[in-house]
Amino acid sequence: MPEHPSDVPPAIEATGLTKSYGDQQVLRGVDLTVPRGAVHALLGPNGAGKTTAVRILATLSTADAGTARVAGHDIRTARSQVRRAISLTGQFAAVDEMQTGTENLRMMTRLARHSRATARTRAAELLDRFGLTDAADRLVKTYSGGMRRRLDLAASLVGDPEVIFLDEPTTGLDPRSRAALWDVVRELSARGTTVFLTTQYLEEADRLADRVAVLDKGALVAEGTPAELKRRVAGHRLDLVLADPASYLRLASRATFSDPGTRTLGIPTDGSAAHIRALLDELDPTRTAISSFSVHTATLDDVFLELTRSPAAEQAHV
Ligand SMILES: Nc1ncnc2c1ncn2[C@@H]1O[C@H](COP(=O)(O)OP(=O)(O)O)[C@@H](O)[C@H]1O
Ligand SMILES: [Mg+2]
Repeated sequence: MPEHPSDVPPAIEATGLTKSYGDQQVLRGVDLTVPRGAVHALLGPNGAGKTTAVRILATLSTADAGTARVAGHDIRTARSQVRRAISLTGQFAAVDEMQTGTENLRMMTRLARHSRATARTRAAELLDRFGLTDAADRLVKTYSGGMRRRLDLAASLVGDPEVIFLDEPTTGLDPRSRAALWDVVRELSARGTTVFLTTQYLEEADRLADRVAVLDKGALVAEGTPAELKRRVAGHRLDLVLADPASYLRLASRATFSDPGTRTLGIPTDGSAAHIRALLDELDPTRTAISSFSVHTATLDDVFLELTRSPAAEQAHV
């Protein structure tokens, strides 16, 4: 019986995931929905809780509270079904340095309970797909970091997972290896595999992901398509120096950056003269509240900072 697409559960559906280590709250109620076949990025700085979230979704760790279904299975009550449907590639994967690429992949395929013949063809296919055919018979210890990472990824695919978790797959790679890995991720997605990846790089999320969730100190601070996020952060920032505290407080809820000391508020803008003129008129119709302004071009770091600091800035002024 053919299933209607809307009957297919999302690849990942998490509600209120919470986790503490000792008195440190590492995840503070994380909600995620990832449709099947999507590439979803969890973007966040070091220590944000990305690996913790991935480990919980992959059933390697348990949440203190909250629920999730991965590939339609409950991570608490259907752990083995989840494990059969996923693969997880971390920064440190399980390939054997003292074996060749071919040997590693054949062994992994055998471990996934396939026949020797299947292991042979599957290994060759994967090596080809990941551009490793020329290096197939070399010991893995002679591989570059990028080749090694691609082999890790190939190894995680021997069981044909529905959902693949990639935890910072390109951290530490040179730009060329990173680009090669991006191609592989796109290809996986084109074949219908759901990819959930974590990254510290906005650019990576932008290049690869259908949707991006931004995690900061264990909480999601933004969620959307890369285009939506970029629109939201607008690429430029109009910094206003307010004439008096009352004006500062009145406009603070609009700001993504605030510095009470200098009475400065930063408002996202596309940087065009028309938008800046409209903003100034809208924010200060009597032309008394704003004493000066400047416009900054947002770097990727600014954009990230803006996303990760906006809720704090808003909270500080409620
Ligand atoms: N097993 C653990 N025991 C204690 N603290 C941990 C453990 N795992 C992670 N943490 C802490 O949780 C926070 C988030 O870690 P992690 O999920 O690895 O973040 P990310 O992957 O985004 O860098 C960090 O402050 C880290 O030190
Ligand atoms: Mg991590």
